[in-house]
Amino acid sequence: MTAAGEYYEDKVAVVTGGASGVGLALAETMLRYGARRVVLADVNDENLGRETARLNEAHPGKVLGVHCDVTSEKDVQDMIKRAADFGAGRIDLLFNNAGAGLGGSFDEQSNEDWDRAFALNFYGARCTVSVRCCPSCAHRAAGTSSTSSPASRSTRWRTSRSTPRPRPR
Ligand SMILES: NC(=O)c1ccc[n+]([C@@H]2O[C@H](COP(=O)([O-])OP(=O)(O)OC[C@H]3O[C@@H](n4cnc5c(N)ncnc54)[C@H](O)[C@@H]3O)[C@@H](O)[C@H]2O)c1
Repeated sequence: MTAAGEYYEDKVAVVTGGASGVGLALAETMLRYGARRVVLADVNDENLGRETARLNEAHPGKVLGVHCDVTSEKDVQDMIKRAADFGAGRIDLLFNNAGAGLGGSFDEQSNEDWDRAFALNFYGARCTVSVRCCPSCAHRAAGTSSTSSPASRSTRWRTSRSTPRPRPR
């Protein structure tokens, strides 16, 4: 196994937007590399049910699908709690992957479109790594990673707090 593969071995991971695309591929890859538990958190219940069942067939008991809208703090709090229970108190890796692009040209996009895009791609990712929604991330120094591009700055902030870097003198 490669060093990258070994990194995922025995880890408990949460993937938001994990029921399709990049998130689903990531979940499958981690399971192949021996992840202990993987939680798929998504709003699309049809995909969530189908993919959770499919992955559990290949990796019995290792996958939990949770309905979660990352724009809802309550949903995220509930999801994190269920994920931590499923991981026997552990969440080692949190992938902020739920997101979507804005369609159409700049002129066609309304303020409401931008509000929706920020709610999903920015505040959604911010919420999953905030102490309020994810106490286990703050206290256990969980690794976080964001695929939804605008959120990467806030995630880096959290990660750098969890893993202090040397300050320039
Ligand atoms: N595919 C690309 O080329 C590309 C490039 C740059 C960034 N990204 C980002 O990577 C991430 C994954 O992209 P993808 O191509 O796999 O997209 P995708 O549409 O296949 O997957 C996104 C998943 O997020 C889920 N989702 C949407 N809104 C949600 C919400 N409110 N709460 C929870 N889940 C929600 C969807 O149901 C879907 O399962 C996205 O954040 C996207 O913006 C993708």
